[in-house]
Amino acid sequence: MIPFPKFIKPKDELTEDREETVVDESVSHFVYNPLHSLALDQQRKKLPVWQNRDNILYLLQEYQTLIVLGETGSGKSTQIPQYIYEAGWCKDGVIAITEPRRVAAKSLANRVAEEKGVIAGDLVGYSVRFDECTSAERTKIKYMTEGMLLREILYDPVLKPYKFIMVDEVHERTLLTDLVLGLLKKIMKQRRDLKLVISSATVDADHLCNYFDLSQEADSEAKPTASVISISGILHPVEIHYLKDPLPDYIKAAVETVVEIHKKEPPGDILVFLTGQEEVKIAVELLTDWADSLKRSYGEMMPLPMFASLGNRDQLRVFQRAPHGVRKVIVSTNVAETSVTIPNITYVVDSGFMKLRCYDPETRMDTLGVVPVSKASATQRAGRAGRTRRGKVFRLYTEESFHSLLNSNPPEMQRTDISQVVLQLNALGIKNVLRFDYLSPPPSKNLASALERLHAHGAIDDSCNLTMPLGLHLAELPLDPNLGKMLISSGDFGCSEEIASIIAMLQVESVFLTPRSGDEFTRARKAQRQYKVAEGDLITSLNVLSDYEDSGESSQWCSSNFFNRRALQRAVKIKAQLIGILKKFEVPVVQCRGNEESIMKCIATGLFMNAAYQSPSGEYRTVRGDVSVSIHPKSVLNEVQPPPLLLFVDVIHTTKRYIRDLTAVEESILKQVAPHYYK
Ligand code: CDP
Ligand code: MG
Repeated sequence: MIPFPKFIKPKDELTEDREETVVDESVSHFVYNPLHSLALDQQRKKLPVWQNRDNILYLLQEYQTLIVLGETGSGKSTQIPQYIYEAGWCKDGVIAITEPRRVAAKSLANRVAEEKGVIAGDLVGYSVRFDECTSAERTKIKYMTEGMLLREILYDPVLKPYKFIMVDEVHERTLLTDLVLGLLKKIMKQRRDLKLVISSATVDADHLCNYFDLSQEADSEAKPTASVISISGILHPVEIHYLKDPLPDYIKAAVETVVEIHKKEPPGDILVFLTGQEEVKIAVELLTDWADSLKRSYGEMMPLPMFASLGNRDQLRVFQRAPHGVRKVIVSTNVAETSVTIPNITYVVDSGFMKLRCYDPETRMDTLGVVPVSKASATQRAGRAGRTRRGKVFRLYTEESFHSLLNSNPPEMQRTDISQVVLQLNALGIKNVLRFDYLSPPPSKNLASALERLHAHGAIDDSCNLTMPLGLHLAELPLDPNLGKMLISSGDFGCSEEIASIIAMLQVESVFLTPRSGDEFTRARKAQRQYKVAEGDLITSLNVLSDYEDSGESSQWCSSNFFNRRALQRAVKIKAQLIGILKKFEVPVVQCRGNEESIMKCIATGLFMNAAYQSPSGEYRTVRGDVSVSIHPKSVLNEVQPPPLLLFVDVIHTTKRYIRDLTAVEESILKQVAPHYYK
């Protein structure tokens, strides 16, 4: 047996020791009760941002843009919108708060609704892709994803209904954060009454402040229009432990470190950072086994997963206090780094890795890869342990590796495919996408590749103008251009119902359950096998969804076939929305009932650029870029004779480049649907 990870004794390297206030975080969620609401009111007043309330309101009165810097958990996202509302500034307008993640938008709206003693969807609402919970007349505080605000800008380029926009979590610098900021700057020049709050855990405030200072352009003597406020948060000292020697398997090391903490350290909940949902599930399973064997000698331990697509009920358990004497262990993806705050964490285990989407010049497309975290992320993660009292972080890497980390990751605008940005800007009438006033301009090679891709799809013409209606529809769709093209073309192929099913299934987590017990595992495999077809993952998921619908969305059917009912329910909902969009675009909504060739052709119309062929040596290589790729271990194509040519939706880069969500395809079909591409 490999020994448990060895950590070296920490030097006096502690994070900054600040004010020793302890926040009572005994929160329970979503249940309205007047007494409870009183308690929430007291909690609100204990948050660090409360001390700055008057100052924030004063600065917002004086300046058009206010940049608020403050530790995660200091109350920026939940409190500032309420201060604005309570100041009576929302009488004739709404405050919108944009979040990079849908999970944050929903959970914040629920939390703020609870603090205001209402249910979400009334005074406080949210709007995320495929899920809207607002009231046109009554919602004044509206949490939304950045993508949803963008869509609103498309329909209403000056954002008339809004008086305040708060762009939250700006340190994440997602593609959409940057795009939204660039567009807001443009809008604010026209609408001097529109106020902007930018909130961030850590960010280069000077750069942002200069960017949003609209006075400079008019008159150098004029008073600046942007200001910054820093909120000093509560952060208790966090002791940092590094590994003595590097370890190969961070999942295993994370599990073992949790076991060690549970055995040796005083009570306090543990937060573990891994990179993705799959890893989280594996670690939770391993920890559940350990919990059984440790219970008798060391007390109870409750491992819980946390990731963005987790169901509401499971998320609630993460936020709730554990029963007395039980140690909660939250195993999370990056979502717990800054977007959501989990109370009562004393120990953090940091794998040192995260998933990041980057443009890969070799495949000439975005690749989701596992990469080392930046110093900024590592510091954020460590800080999660010091929110309630003194804490400890166990970094699963050596001190030398920490020092070799990047200070921060470049903004997404400078590292990913920007086809969506080009589409959106074009749809807004901003033709010269090269000269747009970006917060950080994208590299010209990424811009060129985006133009090439959009041109190949027929979304822009030779002079880079958006084509009508295809280009405009693609800009309006909340989907990647490849899938968007597939959906919009589905009417021509007579299979829009089927394609809507396929795309809906791509938006939800895997529907195949894999039970752990041997007997159930075998039964699940047997039941699921009848759906898995040699045509690939997309057709397989279509089969599953169709049968689920034919069963009358029966839960009995799901359990006897070992399918994830929650994911299927969500897919049904998303499909209905996609069909709604098709109707709006006047695309005929039709079924082809088993005409596989139509479906294949339609899939190829969207994915023709993502093709891989089997070389004589047996490995797969991409047609674009000629790079070696492997079939993802979860693909159904592992269970059949591998096809000579296939299409993929996505590439993820871990130990190798894996292509996933695959469809076997005939060369003749590719030549037929994309003759301009396959000469
Ligand atoms: O935005 P920031 O990270 O500064 O803080 P926040 O999200 O406004 O959170 C303020 C407080 O509300 C924290 O102490 C959280 O524990 C609590 N909160 C919560 O209990 N449930 C949520 N869904 C969001 C926040
Ligand atoms: Mg926040």
